[in-house]
Amino acid sequence: MKQVLIDRYGDPWDVARCADVPDLGEPASDEVVFDVLAFPINPADMWFCKGSYRLKPPLPATPGAECVGRVAAVGSAVKHVKPGDLVINLQRENWAQKRKVKGDDAIPLPAGIDLRQAAMVRINPPTAQLMLSDFVDLKGGDWVIQNVANSAVGRLLIVLAHQRGLRTVNVVRRPELAAELKGLGADLVIVDGDNLAQRVATETANVPIKLGVEAIGGAATGRIVECVATDGTVVHYGSMSGEDPKAGRSNFIYRGVKLTGFMLGRGLSKRSPEKIREIYADLAAQVIAGKLHAPVDTVYPIEKIKEALRHADQGGRNGKILVAPNGAV
Ligand SMILES: NC(=O)c1ccc[n+]([C@@H]2O[C@H](COP(=O)([O-])OP(=O)(O)OC[C@H]3O[C@@H](n4cnc5c(N)ncnc54)[C@H](OP(=O)(O)O)[C@@H]3O)[C@@H](O)[C@H]2O)c1
Repeated sequence: MKQVLIDRYGDPWDVARCADVPDLGEPASDEVVFDVLAFPINPADMWFCKGSYRLKPPLPATPGAECVGRVAAVGSAVKHVKPGDLVINLQRENWAQKRKVKGDDAIPLPAGIDLRQAAMVRINPPTAQLMLSDFVDLKGGDWVIQNVANSAVGRLLIVLAHQRGLRTVNVVRRPELAAELKGLGADLVIVDGDNLAQRVATETANVPIKLGVEAIGGAATGRIVECVATDGTVVHYGSMSGEDPKAGRSNFIYRGVKLTGFMLGRGLSKRSPEKIREIYADLAAQVIAGKLHAPVDTVYPIEKIKEALRHADQGGRNGKILVAPNGAV
């Protein structure tokens, strides 16, 4: 079978290769074997290949934080999935044609879900959902501000916030995105840069913004911090700039703004396995209903992993780069 391996850390398209490796064999009684149908290339996967992600395993290693698969075989003790079912995997190392995992890590998805969308259900939708629920008790009509609003997480957050009757200020780096994001339910789309807080205050007529959600780092974090109201909260959940958050102390000392962070694994670990399956069942139902959607730019075969990684590194894409290891999806 084919599996992506990195033998050293560096530029993803240099260090990743599609290797032939031995087949995985039959599952043990508590295991599930599934064929990987599709996986996305997320920013965290790029950092994993570069060696700048929080996880840096001994090499060779296989990247891949998420995927969708079809169950090929289950051990005798596994009762919640059967061969033919679609699953997502709570564990990593998914850039391969097949995976063998513990039964509890295989979360079933409903048949009929679009496979490209299913490949992206595991991480970004619950990230957007939990950031809107776990930090501030938001009520209909409350305002939220976010940057990287055109990212997959950002677009999902717009839709989920709109469903709850929340209002969103969406900070982007490309003004041409405004109409598309407003089509998803964005109330305001504004270009990042100097005087962001003043421009937001003018456009919103000074409404108090209770929650800021931020994934650029560096001075961009500070700009979001300045936009939230006194005693508001800013959640830092990624660093597209590679920089640590930088924000003026007066926001914290004089205005009591709280700066905190989010990691999906930590958010899910506070919930029971039943609750986690419930979250994913709800998100999958929303995908099937067409309410949640993440655009896809291009789907590559696993043999073209280097090309796919180069493409994923380019800005200005119209969605995610996906890889389909077992034929087109
Ligand atoms: N903490 C968690 O548990 C968690 C979970 C999921 C994702 N994340 C983080 O969420 C962020 C978004 O992930 P995603 O998968 O949604 O990303 P994505 O769909 O690949 O989109 C990346 C976004 O970042 C923007 N961007 C890229 N480089 C930038 C820079 N230097 N300055 C400003 N903006 C930049 C891009 O803008 P353009 O659209 O203009 O190209 C694009 O909107 C990442 O930082 C990721 O690590 C965190």
